[in-house]
Amino acid sequence: MAQRKKIALIGAGNIGGELAALAARQELGDVWLFDIPEKIGVAQGKALDLEQNGAVLGYDAAICGTSSWDDLAGSDVVIVTAGVPRKPGMSRDDLLSINLKIIRRVAENLRTRCSDAFVIVVSDPLDAMVYAMKEGTGFPSERVVGMAGILDSARLQLFLAREAGVAVKDVRAMVLGGHGDTMVPVPSYCTINGIPARQLVSAEKFAAIVERTRNGGAEVVKLMGTSAYYAPAASAIQMAKAYLNDEKRLIPCAAYLRGEYGYSDLYIGVPVVLGGRGVERIVEIALDPGEKQMLDNSAKAVRELLEASKKL
Ligand SMILES: NC(=O)c1ccc[n+]([C@@H]2O[C@H](COP(=O)([O-])OP(=O)(O)OC[C@H]3O[C@@H](n4cnc5c(N)ncnc54)[C@H](O)[C@@H]3O)[C@@H](O)[C@H]2O)c1
Repeated sequence: MAQRKKIALIGAGNIGGELAALAARQELGDVWLFDIPEKIGVAQGKALDLEQNGAVLGYDAAICGTSSWDDLAGSDVVIVTAGVPRKPGMSRDDLLSINLKIIRRVAENLRTRCSDAFVIVVSDPLDAMVYAMKEGTGFPSERVVGMAGILDSARLQLFLAREAGVAVKDVRAMVLGGHGDTMVPVPSYCTINGIPARQLVSAEKFAAIVERTRNGGAEVVKLMGTSAYYAPAASAIQMAKAYLNDEKRLIPCAAYLRGEYGYSDLYIGVPVVLGGRGVERIVEIALDPGEKQMLDNSAKAVRELLEASKKL
């Protein structure tokens, strides 16, 4: 008989809690919410609250809080948000030294206990953290991905929809590159129900929207003093679902490149096909010279971050 899937969430903070809520509501499987021993009460409290919420909303999933790595053994999907988020005025790169140590410890534990899992990294600075996860677990790169592109694209979609006065669900947008100040919104691939968005949004407005997208994370941090968590959690759950249900979604994710787009041995946001085998394909799209130049700049920034990681 088929067993329920097992979803491990490393980090029971703001994103971790929302991930658990979404996974439970969508009945993706049983959920283990993991945090450090000092935060075990938070993990267990959120888990209990969410199990009780199942009685109200009518979903059925076991949700447990833990700080024991052994409880995560055999997980099908692991989503990693462990680490610290930004405070106002900080860049994602400022988190490198703290979060790198945490991710290396998490990877060491996943390597032995969750060797068949599909791992989605969310912690920042994203492109360096997902690289460290692949190195630390030794898992094949198709099973270690980073979440950023769906979130950054969602921000671009929202701003375009508001400007064009259309429903946000009719807007498709694409943001590639590293998840930082050099991210690459790609106007030529933004469409509103098939219509190039540039036909409905002026060049001037488009440029302002691109800039707001690049600062989309910082805008939320400035307002509430910590990182966004609803949309980041929903984005990571979309990736988990694509894997669990073999959906073959074509979405931007931080994926490990071996020569695609002219880059090797780094993670960066590119369109991929996500299905039951993880990253099944990296899709190479044509970029105009300006867009390719921006992607090159972004890859350079990611590479510098990796070099800095190696010294820590
Ligand atoms: N990729 C993205 O698009 C994106 C978007 C938003 C936030 N983020 C990042 O996600 C991360 C989490 O954000 P958050 O708002 O949930 O932060 P948070 O502080 O609310 O939660 C992080 C949790 O990680 C836990 N933790 C720390 N060390 C740990 C360890 N060794 N093992 C397990 N858990 C550990 C903390 O105790 C805390 O509960 C941050 O680094 C943030 O910058 C990424």
